Amino acid sequence: MPFQKLKPEIKSIIENENLSIDHRLSQVCEILKENIPYYDWVGFYFKNGDKNELKLRSFAGEPTDHIIIPFGKGICGQVAVSNKNFVVPDVKTQNNYIACSINVKAEIVVPLFLNDENIGQIDIDSHTADPFSKEDEEFLEWVNARVAEVLKV
Ligand code: SME
Repeated sequence: MPFQKLKPEIKSIIENENLSIDHRLSQVCEILKENIPYYDWVGFYFKNGDKNELKLRSFAGEPTDHIIIPFGKGICGQVAVSNKNFVVPDVKTQNNYIACSINVKAEIVVPLFLNDENIGQIDIDSHTADPFSKEDEEFLEWVNARVAEVLKV
């Protein structure tokens, strides 16, 4: 798994003050999608102002219709409420799921905390069945913590 190898590269993108935050987030999505074979769509959603909904901020992969997701809806909306990682080995088993593409077999969503508040999440779709492990969760928690550090300042 290239997680350890990717960390320094991701850190330097996130900390690159010459790029806007949106540009940095897009580059992180690209690097994850390009380097991890079973990451087919990678996006960051954030709480949309004071509304109880998520808004897509950056992504890599096919464009999605689901720019806005109400809290509670789909895997993403459930994580906005639960504050917990949600790993779905097989999306067909989920009733509360928003399909972005018929090719998606599995999904992982990891919340992003700023000062202990769930302000957003990273969402990854995979065309591979059951690809995610504890290592993915830990790695994505690490990515989100690095993003939170630059959102803080
Ligand atoms: N599948 C997600 C919707 C977002 S797309 O994967 C880009 C969900 O059920 O919340």
